[in-house]
Amino acid sequence: MKRAIIITGIAAALVLAAAALFTDWDDVILSWAAPGLAAPSARSDAEKRVLAVLNEMRANGGTYLSVSEEKGRVLRLLTEAAGAKHVVEIGTSTGYSGLWFCLALQATGGHLTTFEIDRGRAAQARINFKTAGVDKLATVVEGDAHQKLAEVAEPIDVAFIDADKEGYPDYLKQLLPRVGPGGLIIADNLNMSSEYRSAVMNNPALETVVWGRDLGVTLKKR
Ligand SMILES: C[S@@+](CC[C@H](N)C(=O)[O-])C[C@H]1O[C@@H](n2cnc3c(N)ncnc32)[C@H](O)[C@@H]1O
Repeated sequence: MKRAIIITGIAAALVLAAAALFTDWDDVILSWAAPGLAAPSARSDAEKRVLAVLNEMRANGGTYLSVSEEKGRVLRLLTEAAGAKHVVEIGTSTGYSGLWFCLALQATGGHLTTFEIDRGRAAQARINFKTAGVDKLATVVEGDAHQKLAEVAEPIDVAFIDADKEGYPDYLKQLLPRVGPGGLIIADNLNMSSEYRSAVMNNPALETVVWGRDLGVTLKKR
């Protein structure tokens, strides 16, 4: 009996540890703190198809360290409002945030270039983009974004940084000259890189606000 309790306890601890590892807790707290958001509703069949894949990914564990639905909606909103033609994302994972960008790009006629170092996640993202009917809107570039960013077409209208936190200052350095005047650089988990945070907060050529707890939204002034 005692042994069974110990084994159950260890199993529960392992499950909790795994859940903690694959969860962005900031986003969980944020979604608890902002209840009552009406579910996104589709205006077209194309939009409906993307939203269906997004829901399916959330419901069936198809995400990996992805942004919350609320952040995804903010990314879509900013991108569509900016009329962005070219979005660059660093850290595709399985394509969850990328699909939110694609909702905007369906309307703006733009394109997403998204970088992922993990082959399996890059492959899954391509499948998700195809299932959602937006594979023509998104190019998944497999490899280390620190090296591959130099090949990206300019200008960038919206850049989203959501990968290795120690790499944020280098991403900013590489992105800044490529983002056009009036463009946006958005960084998730802004507080996890004090060097990045300080760089975007203290540069007079930039205007930065933080949405929620840790989504940094930076405007490159005109
Ligand atoms: C937080 S997840 C991205 C979540 C995704 N933006 C979403 O919301 O669905 C970070 C991803 O960045 C990838 N990554 C880490 N370092 C990278 C690098 N140097 N180049 C490209 N991708 C990288 C990881 O493999 C991981 O899949």
